[in-house]
Amino acid sequence: MNNKTLWLGGAALMVFLAAPAHAACDVDKPGDELTGAEAEAVYDCLKADLQAGYQSGPKRWIPEDFVNDYPGWSKASAFPAAPGFHGGRFLVTYVNAIGAEEYLKYKTENVSIPAGTKIAKESFAIDENGKVTKGPLFMMEKTTAGASPKTDDWYYMMVAPNGAPQAVNVFTACSECHQGNFGEQGGLGYPVEEARIK
Ligand code: HEC
Repeated sequence: MNNKTLWLGGAALMVFLAAPAHAACDVDKPGDELTGAEAEAVYDCLKADLQAGYQSGPKRWIPEDFVNDYPGWSKASAFPAAPGFHGGRFLVTYVNAIGAEEYLKYKTENVSIPAGTKIAKESFAIDENGKVTKGPLFMMEKTTAGASPKTDDWYYMMVAPNGAPQAVNVFTACSECHQGNFGEQGGLGYPVEEARIK
């Protein structure tokens, strides 16, 4: 899969799950013209509300502590980054203590992510008019070896901006892209380079 297919796939996922606009945090320029600092300011405005949304309501098959605890984990991006040329989709990644050391090396080979690693990725969008919308929370958990061979022992989960757990086919909706594009680096896509923690 090339980059374009990758981001079109991601964009489709985003449009499908887009939540109502969040006017209080709107900006006066297109999302893809924002600097890192400006994107961080939008995140500061949105953060409490975004996280409260993810955490509201029953989580059913998704472990509640995952969704409640991740804001206290290590941040894996210095500012919300909008990767690809489908500008306007901003991502903030958090990784738990078990996985932080290895993940934050952003290694492209010999990646050995320990079982018990949990990664959460918040998302929001800023369109060409500066309108802000909340996006889903994406989650990955590294299981014990052999628990999910089809996904290289990653569990994939997703929560809508209103907190509702999203039933998706994790093979076609998540794992195929992660394994197909990043299989060589442990299934990890990592934040875009300029947004990584130095
Ligand atoms: C079209 C390809 C694609 C699909 C489909 C996709 N992802 Fe990702 N994912 C990526 C890319 C690229 C990154 C790294 C970009 C970033 O996070 O800034 C990423 C990063 C992540 C991360 C942060 C950990 C990492 O890999 O660095 C999580 C968690 C995640 N995705 C979960 C999911 C879940 C859950 C699904 C299914 C609902 C999913 N993804 C579907 C491409 C995809």
